[in-house]
Amino acid sequence: MIDIRTGLGWDNHRIAVGRPLVLGGIVIPCEFGLDGHSDADVLAHAVTDALLGALAEGDIGMHFPDTDPRWKGGDSMVFLRHAVSLVRERGYQISNVDSTVILQRPKLKDYRQAIRESLAGALGIELDRVSVKFKTAEQVGPVGEGKSGEAQAAVLLMRAPQQG
Ligand code: C5P
Ligand code: MG
Repeated sequence: MIDIRTGLGWDNHRIAVGRPLVLGGIVIPCEFGLDGHSDADVLAHAVTDALLGALAEGDIGMHFPDTDPRWKGGDSMVFLRHAVSLVRERGYQISNVDSTVILQRPKLKDYRQAIRESLAGALGIELDRVSVKFKTAEQVGPVGEGKSGEAQAAVLLMRAPQQG
């Protein structure tokens, strides 16, 4: 049997003036950011949940409760790297990651390469296996009205070849 696993992640954070806007570990220059217990990196959270989902290992809040003072203001790439280490422990490797960030503004496409490189580094895979897409919400709903930002991610894991 071919041992492959797929995982899906979604996250949503409220927009807050004066907060940092961090996406995939990259700080985007902007007068507002996303609110949350950690650095509220909505993309890192979605990719982390997709990896945990592929392993049926619960969700990010189970591994990193937002009531734990250790994670306050924390770097969400730590959560992502933890999920990657679980993938490896379970004998899988990451085939690819696809993702979408939905934010009405700012324009994010100039940061695509930096975000992809940052995610690829944390995931330990080649750049061409990491996709990051951006969408507005066409000014409709909470995202379109600039009240929140969302991210979605899908991952594919495959059984790593046996060593030796
Ligand atoms: O949402 P919409 O389809 O109008 O987005 C058009 C393009 O604008 C996207 O394909 C993406 O490249 C870019 N975009 C962006 N930053 C955003 C939203 C969209 O760069 N916050
Ligand atoms: Mg989150």
